[in-house]
Amino acid sequence: MRTQPNAAIRAIFSRRSVGRLSVPGPSEGELITILRAGAAAPDHKLTRPFWFVVFEGKAREEFGALLTEALIDRLAAKGLQPTPGQLDKERNRFTRAPLVIAVAAVRNEEISLPEQEIISAAAAAAQNMLLAATSLGYGSIWRTGEPAYDPRVKAALGIKETDFIVGFLYFGTIAEGITPEPHDPDISSITSAWEA
Ligand SMILES: Cc1cc2nc3c(=O)[nH]c(=O)nc-3n(C[C@H](O)[C@H](O)[C@H](O)COP(=O)(O)O)c2cc1C
Repeated sequence: MRTQPNAAIRAIFSRRSVGRLSVPGPSEGELITILRAGAAAPDHKLTRPFWFVVFEGKAREEFGALLTEALIDRLAAKGLQPTPGQLDKERNRFTRAPLVIAVAAVRNEEISLPEQEIISAAAAAAQNMLLAATSLGYGSIWRTGEPAYDPRVKAALGIKETDFIVGFLYFGTIAEGITPEPHDPDISSITSAWEA
């Protein structure tokens, strides 16, 4: 007899990226659970290479102003000017959901680790957050885009240019009429059993 999937397994398969997210977002208590789920991710040598920045309410619009300036600078460096559409998109980037969490991988100056390992740990933290939010009944999406690689954006998040923004995680209530299909992955093309 097949065992029934438990809540964690159900969350893994039902988590889907949902771009249309509205209020209500997670409560303060749920936000703490999501952040703690992130911080519970594995990390090599216990260096805790995580840095989470929470954006709610007005902070999302205020950060939009900084994202807009960063876009203007990126384009200016290429001799270009933004279109009104680009400015609008940048200004409203974080208002697409009631809660955004930036997840960064930060180096520990005392304990050196390959870059890959701090990014892996931070990515595990990000996925833990998405799964926690899914379990709590919220929709989510992991986004990156040019701002994730912009030194000015990194500085505004309080991280160094050599650290990494692994993602901007958006959380909220799944918009009405959207029913994400659970995953039903086929592993045959990505799995092999090693043989000598
Ligand atoms: C590192 C990373 C960056 C991503 N960046 C974006 C993004 O900038 N915009 C977006 O719409 N989705 C982004 N996604 C979400 C993927 O498009 C999505 O996970 C993929 O299509 C699989 O769908 P699912 O999340 O529903 O399983 C990103 C996902 C990852 C892991």
